[in-house]
Amino acid sequence: IEGVIAVDARDAILFMNERARTIFGLGAARGERKPFLEVIRNVDLHAIFHESRAAGEGTVSRHELRLASPVERRLQVNAVPLRLAADELGVVMVLHDVTELRRLEQVRTEFVANVSHELRTPLTAVHGYLETLLAGALEERENARRFLEIVFRHTERLGRLLDDLTDLSNIELGRVSLKLAPTRLDEVAESVLAIIRPKAESGRVTLGSQLPSDLPPVPADRDRLAQIFINLVDNAVKYTPEGGRVTVSARPVAGGRVEVTVADTGIGIPPADLPRITERFYRVDRARSRELGGTGLGLAIVKHLVLAHGGELWIESEPGRGTTVRFTLPSSGPTA
Ligand SMILES: Nc1ncnc2c1ncn2[C@@H]1O[C@H](COP(=O)(O)OP(=O)(O)OP(=O)(O)O)[C@@H](O)[C@H]1O
Ligand SMILES: [Mg+2]
Repeated sequence: IEGVIAVDARDAILFMNERARTIFGLGAARGERKPFLEVIRNVDLHAIFHESRAAGEGTVSRHELRLASPVERRLQVNAVPLRLAADELGVVMVLHDVTELRRLEQVRTEFVANVSHELRTPLTAVHGYLETLLAGALEERENARRFLEIVFRHTERLGRLLDDLTDLSNIELGRVSLKLAPTRLDEVAESVLAIIRPKAESGRVTLGSQLPSDLPPVPADRDRLAQIFINLVDNAVKYTPEGGRVTVSARPVAGGRVEVTVADTGIGIPPADLPRITERFYRVDRARSRELGGTGLGLAIVKHLVLAHGGELWIESEPGRGTTVRFTLPSSGPTA
């Protein structure tokens, strides 16, 4: 609901609803009959209704106000003069809290900027190498081949980026229908470990697992569950230097749930980055991650998929020591 405040011709408060009191952190203090500025020490709002009164009857004015306390808020204020007596003009103000709306707009703007940036990077590279080839490098066989390989890699990256983006927006829009069927977690995890093992070995990272064979099956979409594992284990291997270890484990927990853990002994994530790490495109070290082929969408996809399965996700990390990602899934066991 909206906050409503009415003042009389002498700037004394005539009326103020509960919501308005909350917005300005006034507690139970009524404030009626008292001068506006004594009750609400907000000179901007004071200026707004003065202006409204000056504009005269029949005019509605709109303003946006920033509040710093009691909590940071964005308010949209609509003010309209109110005839109280022949010679008395008050003002009624309606306050909409648009904080969340503005935040979402900000997220959207940043998202578009990020997408453009991520598409621009490979495109610039492709363009640059093709230009060089056309300018003569095509005749030098050795260079030509090397340049084309780079171009090829960048187009692959572009393709991956678009696939991930499409995937993510489909999951978010609820367009992905999960084909839930009782699924053995240990089997899916092992099959993913087998896929990633060569990459881990070439980076001298040991891949281990602790997957009891008597885990209850979970209602899951097998391919999507595999995608969760691939993204998490891929990250763990990618961000773990030589000699490190990545372990995938699972165990039944309270509430008929199964908890899966992907732990590594890698570079870790700084505490300051941790809260935003599952946001689209958020990466600790953009340059480094991009070098490793990353788009910064992996964890966002994982998070959405886990939620879509009715699970939860937590990430703990200590820089220099490693990262542990845990997620739970409801199991189809008898206690579920
Ligand atoms: N196990 C980990 N150890 C350290 N940092 C990690 C780990 N997992 C994720 N990160 C950090 O979180 C960021 C986001 O991960 P995410 O998987 O979303 O993107 P990415 O791996 O960079 O790219 P991709 O979209 O290809 O997965 C990474 O760039 C990295 O900075
Ligand atoms: Mg990743």
